[in-house]
This record gives sequence, structure tokens and C-alpha cells, in this order.
Amino acid sequence: MQWGYAPFLYFVAVLGLEAAMQKECRIIEALQNKLTYRQRLQYMKHYFPINYTVNVQFEEVLKAANITRLRDQNVSELSLRYLWLSVNSQVLLKIWAVLLERHPSWEYTQDLCHLFEQLAEEYENYNQGNVDANVQGVVEQVLTGDAGSSQKAVPPKALLDNCVKVMWLLYSESCK
Ligand SMILES: *[C@@H]1O[C@H](CO)[C@@H](O)[C@H](O)[C@H]1NC(C)=O
Ligand SMILES: *[C@@H]1O[C@H](CO)[C@@H](O)[C@H](O)[C@H]1NC(C)=O
Ligand SMILES: *[C@@H]1O[C@H](CO)[C@@H](O)[C@H](O)[C@H]1NC(C)=O
Repeated sequence: MQWGYAPFLYFVAVLGLEAAMQKECRIIEALQNKLTYRQRLQYMKHYFPINYTVNVQFEEVLKAANITRLRDQNVSELSLRYLWLSVNSQVLLKIWAVLLERHPSWEYTQDLCHLFEQLAEEYENYNQGNVDANVQGVVEQVLTGDAGSSQKAVPPKALLDNCVKVMWLLYSESCK
């Protein structure tokens, strides 16, 4: 009877992965709906003072060019998604932290934070331990905060523009 077992487990694992990806794609779709250009402009620019900036770490400015470079270094797609997720969770918390509860962007930013939290939970369930070491290093730097890292002042809308461009790069293939 032993011989029938391994393919069965393999089948269960594949089903698990597919279910996880579907769940991930649903969260990405929700993010996409909330991060349209019009909403980014309204909530992250018009509702802020002119030329307003948020201080972030250098590593938190994650652009399409970074992803291209990391792909050239054969960093896995899973690691890239984990990097994007970790960076943007932090970025959103930093934007949220400068808002009072009655600010018109407060709830919008909170909703985005929650969606990223859901995505992070998915990663904890399925993907732990598979992240490239150098990406893990960058993520730890971002999470442990400002020790030794240079800061950059960036407009909130520019941060979310990066978030959307990279999201598109990472998910447009696997979440149609
Ligand atoms: C905003 O930044 C632009 C470009 O740096 C500058 O020309 C403009 O005077 C700034 N506006 C204010 C109100 O500080
Ligand atoms: C992204 O690229 C910039 C330079 O363009 C670099 O300073 C930064 O460290 C890179 N970030 C990551 C996470 O690789
Ligand atoms: C990435 O992988 C390709 C194909 O496996 C290989 O040719 C290339 O040398 C690798 N690049 C790096 C930077 O490891």
C-alpha cells in the first residue's frame, strides 16, 4: 500500500499551493481596486499639504528597477513578493502613523494596512523558510527599523506608485 501514498501527498501539496495562490490573488485584486490612480491621487496627494513627504529607509523605496535587478541575480519570485509585501507593510504603517483618526485618508490607509496584514498571514502559513538569504537580510533591516540605515523623504503618493508598479510586475502573470 505504501506506493500509493507519495503521489497522494504530492497531490495534496499541489492543491494546497493552488488554494494559497488563489487566496493571495483575491487579496491582490482587492489591493488593485483600492490602489487605482484616482484614489492614490486623492488620498495620498490632494489630502496632504503641498510637497508633503514621509521619512522612510532607503530600502523602503522599492521600484520596478530593483525588481529587474534582483531577477537578474536569480532571486526567486517568492522572495521578491515577500520583499514587496514586507517593504510596503512598513511604508503604509509609516504613512498611517502621521495621520489623525479624523483625517480623510485615515480609513483608506488603515484598509490598505489590513490587506497587507492578510497577505502577510498567507506567507506565514505557506512560504516560511523559502526566502533567499539576501532578501531576508534586507527585510530584517526594514523591520528592525532605522538603526544604521539612511533615510529618505518621499511623497506618500510616490511610495504608493512604486507599490503599484511592483505589484503589477510580480502578480500580473500569476493572478490574471
Ligand atoms: C513644491 O516643490 C516644488 C518643486 O520642488 C517647488 O517649485 C514649489 O515651490 C514647492 N511648493 C511649496 C508650496 O513649497
Ligand atoms: C533599490 O535600488 C536602489 C538604487 O536604485 C538601492 O539604493 C536600494 O538599496 C535598492 N533596494 C533594494 C531593496 O534592493
Ligand atoms: C542565473 O541563472 C542563469 C540560468 O540558470 C545563469 O545562466 C546565470 O549565470 C545566473 N546568474 C547569476 C547572477 O547567478
